[in-house]
Amino acid sequence: MSSIRCFCCLCFLVLFFLGTSCDYQPYKQGRNLYNFYCATCHMDDGSGLKGLYPPLAEADYLAKNQDHLACIIRYGLSDTILVNQKTYNQEMPGVKDLNEVQITNVINYVNHAWGNALQHVKVEDIQKALKDCKDQ
Ligand code: HEC
Repeated sequence: MSSIRCFCCLCFLVLFFLGTSCDYQPYKQGRNLYNFYCATCHMDDGSGLKGLYPPLAEADYLAKNQDHLACIIRYGLSDTILVNQKTYNQEMPGVKDLNEVQITNVINYVNHAWGNALQHVKVEDIQKALKDCKDQ
């Protein structure tokens, strides 16, 4: 009888740790922020909207412009850009609500979601990038 109880305790512990590791907070916050602030245009799965909003999933532009992401998120982008061989020229408005930590978490989510395997950024990198784009 007691061994059964022990087994149950063990199951519970395993579930508990699995549960908490899936809940890894910065990634979860990044995903929530993405879904709230970005998914309206770039879609939940990062696929964008043909001709209007560029994709973020496996996007060459995203991979090549890692240094500019923080500035794009905060100040927007109004340019003609080429993403995966398609041209986009709509305007992206800046998302002013996000602080530096939140921008970091959104970038880390985008960099690792939907098959993306890009770098992990630190808050200090984002602070520096934001300072540089303000100076321009
Ligand atoms: C209102 C729609 C809209 C929202 C909301 C929006 N974007 Fe964009 N985004 C765009 C458009 C349009 C472009 C292309 C801008 C251009 O052509 O200059 C773009 C471009 C980009 C790019 C560069 C191109 C690429 O595909 O790699 C990145 C990165 C990006 N957005 C990330 C984000 C993130 C992260 C958020 C949320 C914090 C966000 N965007 C919110 C519309 C939006």
